[in-house]
Amino acid sequence: MIKKLQKAELHCHIEGAAEPDLVLAQAKKYGVDASHTVDLKNGYLWHDFTAFLKAYDFVASLFRSPEDYVLLSESYFKKLAGQNALYGEIFASPDHAARIGCSYNTLIEAIAEGIRIAKVDTGIEGRIVVTGVRHVGPEAVEQAAKLAVANPHPLVTGFGMAGDERMDRPLVFKRAFDIARDGGLGLTVHAGEFGGPESVREALDHLKVSRIGHGVRMIEDPDLVKRIAEEGIVLEVCPASNVALNVYDNLKSHPLRRLQEAGVIVTLNSDDPPHFHTSLENEYRIAADDFGYTQDELLGFTNNAINAAFVDGDTRKVLLEKCGFDALG
Ligand code: ADE
Ligand code: ZN
Repeated sequence: MIKKLQKAELHCHIEGAAEPDLVLAQAKKYGVDASHTVDLKNGYLWHDFTAFLKAYDFVASLFRSPEDYVLLSESYFKKLAGQNALYGEIFASPDHAARIGCSYNTLIEAIAEGIRIAKVDTGIEGRIVVTGVRHVGPEAVEQAAKLAVANPHPLVTGFGMAGDERMDRPLVFKRAFDIARDGGLGLTVHAGEFGGPESVREALDHLKVSRIGHGVRMIEDPDLVKRIAEEGIVLEVCPASNVALNVYDNLKSHPLRRLQEAGVIVTLNSDDPPHFHTSLENEYRIAADDFGYTQDELLGFTNNAINAAFVDGDTRKVLLEKCGFDALG
């Protein structure tokens, strides 16, 4: 049942989606020793969030040419289509690309080419969310927003921010989000993952996003949960990621169901799937097995994702129709 269910994903990081075998092939291609970060038997080898971010940067450093990014994007979207997903949004960071001398336009063209190939093969629809990295600092995040707005691309429809939430308050990044909003991009930000409710509240007040990456720790503040439900802010929830990164000890203590039952619009996502031994299909399986959601309720998560996707009205209508959903959601 889970396998056949139609799915959609709004929250996945491109370099974080690289499977261990692909990373090892890239390491071999460039003559780099990757054994400290990944092996075929155990997968990725980090032990906490700081080490995860370091492993992420190392993996990104192994994607050095446009062809590398085409391959990475194509393999992610084809794999997603293989899980019966109709739609995926991928986070792409100009900062990571710049570190290996890859320009913004080269990065976007390469990821877009991967999406195009996957669409021809499978029909999957994909979009790119240009993403600033919080711990690189506000200037770099603003630069990412400027690049996205100054170089419009039909598949770049959103702007977001990932990275270490323990650094800098959302207010510091206001200008970047103002630029992206004025440029017509949809907005999302990682908040309420390693930061508490105040981080989510500031993100709403100052960055004025329509979606929150994770957001789960808002459960610590019932008034905030009420506000998010009333305002229709959408959460990109990633249960396996939250447990793997120790935001929660186990799925039993994860607030997915409590948030959803409080009226918050929730979607299911894989974040950095091989790092967390997960996939979008596995997130739907977790929702069924660990949270007791029925088939119709699981489809509701897909409906939520399509309604919150950063796409034009016609594309949304087609996606909703493909799922048999009423066009109003
Ligand atoms: N970058 C990639 N995955 C991330 C996560 N879960 N939180 C913050 N930044 C990230
Ligand atoms: Zn994320």
